[in-house]
Amino acid sequence: MCVSLGPRTYEILIGPGLLPKTADIIWRWHVQHAGKPPAQPGALIVTDTNVAKLHADAVRQSLEAAGWSVDVIALPAGEKSKSLDVVNTVYDRLIERQADRRTVIFAVGGGVVGDAAGFVAATYSRGVPFVQVPTTLLADVDSSVGGKVGVNHALAKNMIGAFYQPFGVLIDTSVLATLPDREYKSGLAEVVKYGVILDAEFFAQLEAQTDQLNRRDADTLAAVIARSCRLKADIVEKDEYERTGLRAALNYGHTFAHGFEALCGYGVLLHGEAVSIGMVCASRLAERRGLIDASVTKRQVDLLSALGLPLRLPDGLRITASDMVARMRLDKKAIAGQLRFVLPTRMGHVETMANIPENDVLAVMETVGVV
Ligand SMILES: NC(=O)c1ccc[n+]([C@@H]2O[C@H](COP(=O)([O-])OP(=O)(O)OC[C@H]3O[C@@H](n4cnc5c(N)ncnc54)[C@H](O)[C@@H]3O)[C@@H](O)[C@H]2O)c1
Ligand SMILES: [Zn+2]
Repeated sequence: MCVSLGPRTYEILIGPGLLPKTADIIWRWHVQHAGKPPAQPGALIVTDTNVAKLHADAVRQSLEAAGWSVDVIALPAGEKSKSLDVVNTVYDRLIERQADRRTVIFAVGGGVVGDAAGFVAATYSRGVPFVQVPTTLLADVDSSVGGKVGVNHALAKNMIGAFYQPFGVLIDTSVLATLPDREYKSGLAEVVKYGVILDAEFFAQLEAQTDQLNRRDADTLAAVIARSCRLKADIVEKDEYERTGLRAALNYGHTFAHGFEALCGYGVLLHGEAVSIGMVCASRLAERRGLIDASVTKRQVDLLSALGLPLRLPDGLRITASDMVARMRLDKKAIAGQLRFVLPTRMGHVETMANIPENDVLAVMETVGVV
């Protein structure tokens, strides 16, 4: 499938066992983009310390066997690597090897590696080609598609970045076999989100396939990843630079989720876990505002719970309502401090709403354990 963005159009390739075929695939993409094969091809594989041991070698071996000169840099695994300090070590490596604009950067890892390596690709030498090779479910269905790249500032997540589309996205579904269970489920939360915001039929399909999803059935997963990527690509094609408000729909549940993540300390709740609880809040908020009836929330609660995702904050975690409201007012999506929420108006459709009374927000947060 393609993300159609004029001269920045690129392919998303999904299937099992693709990593050993990396060189052939890149060759084809290069010819499509540049009209000729890469001359003296050089690559920097950016990965993290976990994925380096599991999957990065398959990419390296494929490229080397095809005559590429390949260097690998493994960032420390975890969100802390999305920082200018860590990104600087990647620039160091590129300069050491005198990399020029023909060097292709391969981001082999989860969203952290994709965001950080993509930012390097956007900025090194004013832009070098990069390929997303996502290895988490979250990166497969969300972060690898759409061209948002960047790092965190000490005071604000994702605050330093760019829109920079990859040259292609190579999704090898076999690598999900090694993904820890919590990380896998966290990715499923974003999949559920696509159903709620854009596609009622997809949501119903997920409801019918919870067993297959829980046992990571390969065919089910490939189909679910493809549908999620298509839904995200459709939005990105219409609102690449997040100007029309359309792309904001992807933030369903996220205003709450970002508050939860920040206030419990990054890493305590995984992103998808926070999104799961955030969607429960947002749907209950829509219900309180009379936008949907209770069945729309119940279906989400039932599906999230069947997929092993949390519906409320873990016991023992103390997050206060006043801290949450203060956080949400700082959210990038708030305008002049006014709370705005992406809320469902029926299954498969959301709208951005301003002027939501604070009392309603407080009431729904209480239901998930905010004190
Ligand atoms: N750019 C975007 O549009 C966008 C969208 C959503 C999220 N994000 C970003 O993505 C990041 C989260 O991504 P993530 O959830 O993939 O986290 P991550 O990159 O930290 O990966 C999660 C963990 O899984 C490990 N891992 C990765 N692949 C593995 C595999 N196949 N087998 C075993 N272990 C593996 C990693 O080493 C890490 O410990 C956040 O920083 C978030 O801001 C970006
Ligand atoms: Zn998300």
